[in-house]
Amino acid sequence: MSVHTQNSRITTAQIKKLKQQGEKITMLTSYDFTLASLVDEAGIDMILVGDSAANVVCGYSTTLPITLDQMIFLASGVVRAAKHALVVVDMPFGSYQCSEDEAVANAIRILKESGADAVKIEGGEQVAHYISRLVKAGVPVMGHLGLTPQSVNQFGGYALRAKEEQEAEQLRRDAKLLEQAGCFSVVFEKIPAALAAEVTSELSIPTIGIGAGAQCDGQVLVLHDMLGLNNGFKPKFLRHFASMAEEVKQAVGDYIDAVHNSTFPNETEQY
Ligand code: KIV
Repeated sequence: MSVHTQNSRITTAQIKKLKQQGEKITMLTSYDFTLASLVDEAGIDMILVGDSAANVVCGYSTTLPITLDQMIFLASGVVRAAKHALVVVDMPFGSYQCSEDEAVANAIRILKESGADAVKIEGGEQVAHYISRLVKAGVPVMGHLGLTPQSVNQFGGYALRAKEEQEAEQLRRDAKLLEQAGCFSVVFEKIPAALAAEVTSELSIPTIGIGAGAQCDGQVLVLHDMLGLNNGFKPKFLRHFASMAEEVKQAVGDYIDAVHNSTFPNETEQY
């Protein structure tokens, strides 16, 4: 059953209701109008304008360099495409860590200037009070726990998180704090499936997993990864639902050949 209505985007309240109804929630990233239109038309529940744009769109090796202005620019194209899906935008590194006031001002900029519906913030206990300020200011917030890529320099890499009991216990606490702070849902990235299942059953808000097993209330993937556009990245949790790198290279090769041998354009393709 779809919760989408004609020409109106799904709301955070509807996302929460999907958990109560036991219905799985779907989310994919998008960073531009064209692909976001296709993702939206296919019936996705939420589109994430992730700061993974730093990797996928800009080619950086981490998500740290992307700026607030760049995120707003990308998000505004996605918002123009999204007729049904709720649009969530990542608050980039440096846009919420300095002070509550700055976090509120930057989140409001994202909603005002891009037209998006919600923001996503990485972290637990350390950002929970920022999140409650944002929620009080009218900004819907999605949390993000486990592997939080903006902390790569602290973690020293992108390995599985919370596999030791101490970190798992912190994640349980963090998840509860995010729920109390008013998050409408929370992403669990790269944590053991059993831990994700346990915390999912204890939270009233939906959990959206990436590398966190099947018992999360929903799943998210980076669009370019699941389309098989980037063959160099194939972690265990990722499924390629298409092999588009091959298709794109084949099409570009065919175009080059057609131009070289003067079969493109043909008579019907000219004026
Ligand atoms: O930036 C992103 O794409 C994300 C997802 C991996 C959840 O945060």
